[in-house]
Amino acid sequence: MTRLHVNIDHVATVRQARGTSYPDPVPAAPICEMAGAAGITIHLREDRRHIIDRDVELIRQVVTTVLNLEMAATEEMLQIACRVRPDMCTLVPEKREERTTEGGMAVSAHQAEIAAAVKTLVDAGICVSLFIDPDLREVEAAKAVGAQMVELHTGDYAEAPASQVAAELARLTTAAQHAAKIGLRVAAGHGLHYHNVAPVSRIPEVEELNIGHAIIARAIFVGLDAAVRQMLEAMDRP
Ligand code: PXP
Repeated sequence: MTRLHVNIDHVATVRQARGTSYPDPVPAAPICEMAGAAGITIHLREDRRHIIDRDVELIRQVVTTVLNLEMAATEEMLQIACRVRPDMCTLVPEKREERTTEGGMAVSAHQAEIAAAVKTLVDAGICVSLFIDPDLREVEAAKAVGAQMVELHTGDYAEAPASQVAAELARLTTAAQHAAKIGLRVAAGHGLHYHNVAPVSRIPEVEELNIGHAIIARAIFVGLDAAVRQMLEAMDRP
């Protein structure tokens, strides 16, 4: 069964909106784990707009499953990752003005820098995943720079008009198959929701999904435990 990693950034978004100390994303991690999440994902952005440094330190201490730290491949973030030692790092492109991560990394265009960042993390014993568009050239480049895993960007699938959904799903499937064939582990995520998650979860090569906004949004009404459980059910829906 596909594993669910819950991205808890948006608990911190609510906190940062008012500059308060609550809601604290730290206790969100064990609640998600007890509801069945196989891992916790957090994105430490350069501008610290949601997750802040103290969250990373404390969440590292409380996570008992897998901690996935999403970050840009900058010197500052590499130093933090090597000190905090998440179980895995997902390297993402980051633009200050974007509302959320807008696309996959252009690995093929920046192979040397990305290879150096991957090596730093792998040498520190951290599994490295690269967030890429479902594009065969980027899958090949991810392998070439030494990543162990790719996270396929599902944003285009999630936003596709009904007439394009099947084509976007086929792109994801082809990229996942190719990645697995060349020895990469495969995750997927971004924009996934209760109503569109099942077809992606059913792609056999996709072992893991990273889902945040939809779960935290639903948690406002039903609580975090129920929101995670409902996502696990939705992933498994025939
Ligand atoms: N995967 C990556 C690499 C992301 O950057 C994000 C958003 O932080 C997610 C997954 C989760 O996306 P969403 O919040 O839309 O579920």
